[in-house]
Amino acid sequence: MRWFFLVGFMGAGKTTLGSKVAERLALPFFDLDAQIEIDAGMSIREIFETEGERGFRERETNMLRKLIATGPAGVIATGGGAFTLEENRDIMNEAGVSVWLDVPIDTIVTRAASMDVAERPLWGSAADVRALAERRKKDYGLADHHLELSTNSTDDGTAHLYELLAPYRGNS
Ligand code: S3P
Repeated sequence: MRWFFLVGFMGAGKTTLGSKVAERLALPFFDLDAQIEIDAGMSIREIFETEGERGFRERETNMLRKLIATGPAGVIATGGGAFTLEENRDIMNEAGVSVWLDVPIDTIVTRAASMDVAERPLWGSAADVRALAERRKKDYGLADHHLELSTNSTDDGTAHLYELLAPYRGNS
């Protein structure tokens, strides 16, 4: 049983790099937020509005378990808050390997222009975003791997991630 979990702040590229690396590894890919939205029949924003963050976090943990139960291996791009909860970290530790995609906060704040921040209820002012990212660092630091991504290139990021994960193949 070996799942790969991409963790890290909003806008770090978890979904983009995760889907690409899964393709290279010939593994199924899941975006945790997208699966929650399909299951709920609501967008993330609507879930926060109707059920609050608490309701969303419950859905997140349930979906994490559900996806892991679909098979022996795969890649899951988690939402930025998922790895901050101990229960979720325990689930991920048991099922496989976590990687913190660490992108400088300045880069993420710049990326906001091209991100759908309206669909990210916890996105706030630049100062708030920086403070949240700073608070979460200690949790992300608990991931099995720390991949610092100073590049905006998807190809380079995917290549680095692939190098990190490929040795786990056939090693379950
Ligand atoms: C969240 C990040 C979002 C999404 C939700 C909460 C967070 O995912 O799960 O809006 O707590 O950081 P992305 O990291 O994919 O934006």
